[in-house]
Amino acid sequence: SLVARQRFLQSTFIVARHFSKTSQSNAKVAVLGASGGIGQPMSLLLKINPAITKLALYDIANTVGVAADLSHCSTNAQVTGHEGASQLRECLEGCDVVVIPAGVPRKPGMTRDDLFNTNAGIVRDLADACAQYCPKAMICIICNPVNSTVPIASEMFKKRGVYDPNRIFGVTTLDIVRSNTFISQAKGLDVSQVNCPVVGGHSGVTIIPVISQCTPPVSFPVDERQKLSVRIQNAGTEVVEAKAGTGSATLSMAYAGARFVGSVLDGLNGEEGIVECAFVRSDETEAKYFSTPLLLGKNGVEKNLGLGKLTDFEVDLIKGAMPELKKNIQKGEEFANAS
Ligand code: NAD
Ligand code: LMR
Repeated sequence: SLVARQRFLQSTFIVARHFSKTSQSNAKVAVLGASGGIGQPMSLLLKINPAITKLALYDIANTVGVAADLSHCSTNAQVTGHEGASQLRECLEGCDVVVIPAGVPRKPGMTRDDLFNTNAGIVRDLADACAQYCPKAMICIICNPVNSTVPIASEMFKKRGVYDPNRIFGVTTLDIVRSNTFISQAKGLDVSQVNCPVVGGHSGVTIIPVISQCTPPVSFPVDERQKLSVRIQNAGTEVVEAKAGTGSATLSMAYAGARFVGSVLDGLNGEEGIVECAFVRSDETEAKYFSTPLLLGKNGVEKNLGLGKLTDFEVDLIKGAMPELKKNIQKGEEFANAS
């Protein structure tokens, strides 16, 4: 089964190169937070995905202009703009996939958890609307802190009695994208052929690159492996510092988000062997939510492919992540249930 798993993992980057393999589909996708730093370029990448026929853009501001602009691109998707809470329902009705990049980004010196006070309420309200108007849609959450916003969204779906753990995802694809890039650079490999799973959560020590399972296999001296793992964990902060107060990763996140949505759509369309890592309800570790490679299908998570074989170094990273991860998850659940 290790061979089967490797084959699954390998198929991921084939999908990634084209955002979506499927050329025929009828999907409606909504972007909530579509006018933002991530929302705009990600919407552009989704507009060129042939699997999407309806692209519904929602934000609290500026969606009319973004939608008018994007609608002139000569691709298949029909673009609609929805502005303000009164237009959220029409945006969500009939959606197959909802992707949520709404929320404030970090400034230098902040942790992702520092965004909780603002972003928790945004995700609570957007998730509650999804639970009412498109309860069967695949919900892809980009808004930070992902370790807490995924539990918040899940609790809101539970409150409406429509929770399906196989349909709510925290988008961690950027961590995989970064690992693949950094590893290919270090080893002089064709990046389109590199696939390194990243497990755990999406903040600091909870980001756990599993370099031992990289395709093709790569090995590093201990100190180099350590440095590479730390760089992957801190790559978001690298961008936050480079942008010096003007925001966090937007373009690379747009790329990663469009790849993830493309894979979810391929799964929905019955493509076989579609695998992505994402932060989901999980029984793989003692943390209630955890990211591992997932086989995607018509109903979202078809199969959790689990952690696979790990090195002692990776096992220690997971142990080190547990207290933070569990704390973030509990904080999200408590917030949702107190609201
Ligand atoms: P941004 O400030 O540029 O854009 C956010 C957008 O959300 C704005 O257009 C704003 O109007 C909108 N918004 C705010 N409240 C809203 C609401 N209630 N409903 C709908 N839209 C609303 O920020 P950004 O750079 O695009 O980042 C967005 C979020 O994504 C941040 O929380 C950031 O930390 C997170 N992020 C996550 C990852 C990841 O890997 N998961 C990567 C990068 C950024
Ligand atoms: C990232 O990994 O780039 C995002 O989570 C944004 C951030 O705050 O680092």
